[in-house]
Amino acid sequence: MLRSTLLYLARQGWLRHWIETSSVSRRLTSRFIAGRTLEEGIRAADQLSKDRILSTLDHLGENVTSLEEAARSCDSYLAALQSIERHGLGATVSVKLTQLGLDLSEEVCLRNVSALVERARAMNSRIEVDMESSAHTDRTLWLVSELHTRFGGHVRAVIQAYLHRSEEDIRRLSAAGIAVRLCKGAYREPPALAFQLKADVDRNYVKLMKLLLEGGAYPAIASHDEAVIREGLQYVRASGIDPNSFEFQMLYGIRRDLQKKLTSDGFRVRSYVPYGDAWYPYFMRRLAERPANLLFILKNMIRG
Ligand code: FDA
Repeated sequence: MLRSTLLYLARQGWLRHWIETSSVSRRLTSRFIAGRTLEEGIRAADQLSKDRILSTLDHLGENVTSLEEAARSCDSYLAALQSIERHGLGATVSVKLTQLGLDLSEEVCLRNVSALVERARAMNSRIEVDMESSAHTDRTLWLVSELHTRFGGHVRAVIQAYLHRSEEDIRRLSAAGIAVRLCKGAYREPPALAFQLKADVDRNYVKLMKLLLEGGAYPAIASHDEAVIREGLQYVRASGIDPNSFEFQMLYGIRRDLQKKLTSDGFRVRSYVPYGDAWYPYFMRRLAERPANLLFILKNMIRG
């Protein structure tokens, strides 16, 4: 119930405008958002690198309303890639295709994201293409496949374990040598398309994780779920899988203890570092995943 309410509020423009421009917003969000500017995002990535944690930078934003806005998003990511290279960070960037114009023109979106993958290829990095709601799944996977073919890699798709179609998608992507980030899925989807019970999503996640660890192209296991991660580690050890053939990914500010522990145990961990002004939908999805965060944030605000 609280989860649905938070996901509903995540889509409310009036609330978003009010809260994004409010003076308390920075205190509200600092646990999960690295800052408002690229410099703050880079600083967070630099700080993480001191703990040997890799980063993927996400310039917050989704669903642009004009091609000019999409072009500006593209420029902001080119600037992020340039800054990553300048600072010598082993970082990638994560983009949402709706931020690069997917809902306005597939052709322009492909042109925008191609410019990013080309730049990533030149610096031996990678563009990670986040997965949005199911209305975008087919188009996103098509674009990622196209980019992989054009640029010989340097791109990663995201698959959501809650979707019934995901096993088939993973088999197809792995056969084509396309890297996959596996997550549980953060949107509200109908029963015809997605598992509704957490236990079913978790079971499917474990199944797909093993599939990727066994035959995927440098997969990313993106979860904070300790039970799932434990199963992954057992599988890796039992099957003699090279720890350098995959990475764990977690969100900035979440389970920092686990991020450090996995790194010190010799596994690669990448933190998803969001920055920018348009933080509201991202922040609300994090609250919806764990409504206890609401209490945590309110307590910290009262403490000051
Ligand atoms: P689950 O939700 O079952 O949580 C397991 C445990 O993790 C909780 O008990 C708690 O301890 C901790 N935890 C989880 N979420 C937390 C939170 N918000 N705050 C505090 N603790 C929390 N989704 C998507 O649809 N498209 C995408 O492209 C991506 N990309 C992506 C990248 C990366 C690096 C990550 C880690 C996640 C995503 N996601 C995503 C989000 C993902 O789909 C999912 O909603 C969240 O990761 C939460 O799921 P968990 O696997 O962590 O498990």
